[in-house]
Amino acid sequence: MCGIIGYIGEEEAAPILLDGLSKLEYRGYDSAGVAVYSKDQGLNVVKAKGRLEVLSRLVDGGKSVHGTVGLGHTRWATHGQPSDINSHPHVSHSGKIAVVHNGIIENYVKLKQFLISKGVAFVSETDTEVVAQMLEYYYEGDILASVAKVLARIEGSYAFGIICSDCPNQLIAARKDSPLILGFGKDCNFLASDVTAILKHTRDVCYLADGDIAVLKQDQVTIYNVDLEPIEKPHSHVDWEISAAEKGGYEHFMFKEIMEQPKAVRDTVSPRIRDGKVVLDSVNLTADYVQNLKRLYIVACGSSYHVGIVAKYTIERLVRLPVEVALASEFRYCNPLVDENTLVVVVSQSGETADTRDAMREAKRLGARTLAVVNVVGSTIAKEADDVIYTWAGPEIAVATTKAYSAQLAVMDLLTLYLGDLKGTLPAPEYDAILGGLQKLPEQIEEILSRKEDIQYYASLYFNNQSVFFIGRNLDYAIGLEGSLKLKEISYVHSEAYAAGELKHGTISLIENGTLVVALATYGTLFDKLMSNVVEVKTRGASVLALTTDSRRVQLEKETANIRPVDHIISIPDAHEILLPSLAVVPLQLFSYYVALLRGCDIDKPRNLAKSVTVE
Ligand code: AGP
Repeated sequence: MCGIIGYIGEEEAAPILLDGLSKLEYRGYDSAGVAVYSKDQGLNVVKAKGRLEVLSRLVDGGKSVHGTVGLGHTRWATHGQPSDINSHPHVSHSGKIAVVHNGIIENYVKLKQFLISKGVAFVSETDTEVVAQMLEYYYEGDILASVAKVLARIEGSYAFGIICSDCPNQLIAARKDSPLILGFGKDCNFLASDVTAILKHTRDVCYLADGDIAVLKQDQVTIYNVDLEPIEKPHSHVDWEISAAEKGGYEHFMFKEIMEQPKAVRDTVSPRIRDGKVVLDSVNLTADYVQNLKRLYIVACGSSYHVGIVAKYTIERLVRLPVEVALASEFRYCNPLVDENTLVVVVSQSGETADTRDAMREAKRLGARTLAVVNVVGSTIAKEADDVIYTWAGPEIAVATTKAYSAQLAVMDLLTLYLGDLKGTLPAPEYDAILGGLQKLPEQIEEILSRKEDIQYYASLYFNNQSVFFIGRNLDYAIGLEGSLKLKEISYVHSEAYAAGELKHGTISLIENGTLVVALATYGTLFDKLMSNVVEVKTRGASVLALTTDSRRVQLEKETANIRPVDHIISIPDAHEILLPSLAVVPLQLFSYYVALLRGCDIDKPRNLAKSVTVE
């Protein structure tokens, strides 16, 4: 949460900072601010509650704030509600030092009390102001020394950008448990939470590690360890196109990313299939290790967790290995049954989700091998896991994940085949059928996308519903969880995903005339059982929108002609059963998108959310 950027160079900093912040807004968007230094104006801090455009108007697109060095911040509030005062940058009491921060200072109350006892007056409710004030408290003319002292006293997570008006020819960056990169430009240098913010200016970057401190000057960057000893760090080249992080003519990133799913799945799958086999170059599991595994854990949050639920069904079915799926925030504190015979798979688009990262660390501590499925290259989870499989979905900007989710599902299918092969549980014909099916997914997703107007129509019928249920069994239930989350996070419609057979144990009491029930009926084996549950809700007045396969649609249409168990049918191409979730999720994403559009919601930046959840 929160995006930070810093620039030092020869050009006017403010427009560059604002442009960078516009790429970071997905990380938080309740307020924004910049601090820019110039000889004439000193340290000029402008910040405002609201979206970046509010700040941008205040500074006339950056034209009214002069100086060639500065910091910017876009906020997702933790300590103190969104307000002008609580916005970053925060400055020390003399106005000499400004700080932008992503993370949480856990011991800020103690430090604040200490500073208050020394006569320091605070203006905001934030944890970050404590850092600005402490920097000044320890400052004796050497800002780097002061930074080192403050870092030694604070607990928690941080990515900092710091500027001091006594030495305006430099910016300081420091990180622990929050992402921070450096960018090396021509006659300029950058710090940022994410490469998207600086890609316009440079592709030459360096990922800071925990404990790193960097001093950025216009023509030189020095990186230090916690003891302030200079260290060398490798540079990385970012090779994806700038257009990948831009809307490219679409009204919303979410819609663009939905439409990019065929490519995301193809890019993720194709390079990993060679000579009819799954090849995972970055994974080093042996047949012995897999055969001796007692249990596999999948640990993640939100949509990535839902990927885990799908994978539990497929891995247990095809690899015959017990799979526990755990919410990362719970796993960490439940004394999990994990040891060296457990493989812990962590799934994270951002690779920076604090709960998932810390759950992974806990698993490692307990002796498990960890395998990460991650989209963001160079992210903390990717770096710390024993093995990594990247989802090559490209940058995902919309807060609601779509293409990264689909790429994660594809990776879990690859992993299932890989493990099944090593464990010897997958007969060759089934292995080949799934592999062939996986390769066909991109074109099948394209086919579903070409039918999007049908889904738009159903959204227009139901966008005013206050409550929606997604019911399904087995893999259909797993996909219902994601459909339900998509709908609530972007359209603010209350929805629940329920295992269809469980409804009658209580929740069915919520079904009344006109309640929309989305019946997920792609899973052939349980189709008839699911339809019995559909009849139960229909009898109680529900409107039923069924999602099934093309071939079952024919059957359902025949039945609906006489007894109308469903009101409308959406269908997806037929595929191997374990691959159906990859297809079924697409209409559900589109449905949520169109409902949110009709309800006038801010689709790419839903209220209260942020893309990368770097706090516990
Ligand atoms: C889904 O649309 C959400 N944005 C959210 O649930 C997300 O999947 C979750 O926060 C986990 O993020 P990660 O994959 O980056 O770890």
